[in-house]
Amino acid sequence: MSKEVVVSGIRSTGYLHLGNYFGAIQNYVKMQDEHNCYFFVADYHSLTTHPDPKDLRQNVYRVVAENVASGLDPEKVALYAQSDIPEIPELYLMLNMLAYKGELEKVPTFKDKVRLQPENVNAGLLTYPVLMAADILIHRAVKVPVGKDQEQHLEMARNFANRFNTRYGADFFPEPQVYRSNQDTVKILSLDGNGKMSKSENVNATIYLSDEDDVIRKKIMKAKTDAGPTEPNAEMPDYIRNLFVLMQVSSAPEVTAKFTADYNNCNIRYGDMKKQLAEDMANFVRPIRERAAELQQDHAAIQRILKDGAEKARASSAATIAEARKMIGINYY
Ligand code: TRP
Repeated sequence: MSKEVVVSGIRSTGYLHLGNYFGAIQNYVKMQDEHNCYFFVADYHSLTTHPDPKDLRQNVYRVVAENVASGLDPEKVALYAQSDIPEIPELYLMLNMLAYKGELEKVPTFKDKVRLQPENVNAGLLTYPVLMAADILIHRAVKVPVGKDQEQHLEMARNFANRFNTRYGADFFPEPQVYRSNQDTVKILSLDGNGKMSKSENVNATIYLSDEDDVIRKKIMKAKTDAGPTEPNAEMPDYIRNLFVLMQVSSAPEVTAKFTADYNNCNIRYGDMKKQLAEDMANFVRPIRERAAELQQDHAAIQRILKDGAEKARASSAATIAEARKMIGINYY
């Protein structure tokens, strides 16, 4: 039986942090053996905000380096730059004819952008979900590992797929579904207790894979705590549970067990816990940071990864586009 096709896009802006690592990348890494995976750097998508041309290459190289350093294996998956696949904008154009202004204007992420950057409400922003649908449908993918914030986009991809199918031929595009690796995806919160550890939030409460040991220590020592539990086996506030989650993924099990017991007995010393966590987390991040930094400097290696990835992705994309053109009637010679 052939493996199921999986697609996901990785934003090329911002540095990867522990939230991305445990939320997204580990998910990718788990899928790479059992699925036919296409993971790409969404560099075209990033153009909606007009990034400085000088930064693009470095951003893309960094994303590739950080993902590979985190365990993504370019031998097992196709890891490529979106802009290396001309079939994606071609399918995007086709799908744009099936996407309606009204539905695009209603998308919450679009409305947010209109609010946040009213001076730059460009058509690329409006049709972002169409480009995303093209990213996915170009490989006729069935599974898309993304977070909750992308579910609406995925529903639109299913709508566009169905419209294409209805108009030009049933069953050409399968309906892509959100994929979440069961239960054990770890959610990491910001160290200041203000929601998810996400890119745009407080950098001092976010641990990046590129953070040096000392920076990690400092951030963890400043993490929000309180006066401690006042009764045995008390429920943990979110920001305390988050420290235990971080400990679980980076410290030895007996260490986590000790501090958990201390918490439950009301004699936990958060200063000691954070000191321990700071060391263990620094040890955890260090090899990833070092590997990523080394790889990012090795331009030949990055370029080889991108070229190999693009070759795999183009084979699949070209097949889809050739058929789509025929179905639409673009078939002249
Ligand atoms: N929109 C996604 C994000 O903001 C990135 C993305 C672009 C994507 N194209 C995709 C994700 C296709 C999954 C599939 O994170």
